Amino acid sequence: PDGGDYKLTYIGKHPVIVARSSDDKQIRVFFNRCRHRGATVCQLEYGNSNYFRCAYHGWVYNNGGGLVGVPFEEGYGEGFDKDKLGLVQVPRVGTYAGFIWASLSADGPSLQEHLGNAMPYIDKFSTQGTEGIQVNIGAQKFGYNGNWKMQMENTVDGYHASFVHASYFEIISRRVGRKLNFGPREGMHVIDLGNGHAVLDIEPGGIDATTTNSRGSNSGPGYNMTVFPNVAFLFSQIRQIRPVAFNRTEVTLYPLRFKGISDEANTARLREHESFYGPASFAAPDDWEMFLRCQTGFQADADVNEAEWIRLYRGLHQEDVDPKTGAKATTQMDEASQRALHRQWKKMMQAD
Ligand code: FES
Repeated sequence: PDGGDYKLTYIGKHPVIVARSSDDKQIRVFFNRCRHRGATVCQLEYGNSNYFRCAYHGWVYNNGGGLVGVPFEEGYGEGFDKDKLGLVQVPRVGTYAGFIWASLSADGPSLQEHLGNAMPYIDKFSTQGTEGIQVNIGAQKFGYNGNWKMQMENTVDGYHASFVHASYFEIISRRVGRKLNFGPREGMHVIDLGNGHAVLDIEPGGIDATTTNSRGSNSGPGYNMTVFPNVAFLFSQIRQIRPVAFNRTEVTLYPLRFKGISDEANTARLREHESFYGPASFAAPDDWEMFLRCQTGFQADADVNEAEWIRLYRGLHQEDVDPKTGAKATTQMDEASQRALHRQWKKMMQAD
């Protein structure tokens, strides 16, 4: 929130710096690439700094992107113009509900047009608790040797949990003293929100801090949502999914804190997050194993008796279309949420 705050991230394969200027407090997104000979100018994942100094030959940029220092500048002779050699900004940056988004394309739908039916869900997510959320307690990272779309599909998949996460539900049932599972329940459903976004609505209406959900965990918005192409909002976290290669993906999870609740309550939320999503947790590593098995299975892709296809048509016959928004809802075990991703992906791959 402060002038000089920055963080590093990627847009696809492009390393970028997201920085709030000390001077005008504006948020800008720059390629993390020195205008001299291309070295990254910032190495720390996040921090606060007025300047980014390239370690190679010492060129210095301010946090508004301007080139403000070139050692032995006279060596460039007449006409050398530092004003033209600031860090390159990505063409479009927008914010919604406190989240920062950027695009490498100068044209295309606006941020709000793109978010579309996802906006009310983002609103609800960002205003959880009595005073909203904070995302400032670090990040958890993992990678897997599989395609990025599998993590997106899995985030809003209500079909797999009873099988992949059976051991988790058994252990939590013992802990809370009642039988928990992830079978079909009244009201649970998945939604294709359009534009590639999807929701797995697990606890319609959300969960307040005084109750427990189907996992025995505490409060949250009650849904998992994916925002095309590579962001997800879940009970306890925000997730960024980064394709590195067709068969390699890196995922960063940012656990949330609720503002206005005790440190003990926030710590309990974090412990809950770790028990489901942590590297040695009861659940998420089982998903990663499934991604590996799928990626391995995909190699049996000969054009023999339709071996090369996967099937995502579960529940296609019973989608309920909202006439106002066009969103397509169906029951929790169906695959409308996976179709949302693949429809948009196909549309974009086929565009001019
Ligand atoms: Fe950055 Fe030379 S590459 S100063």
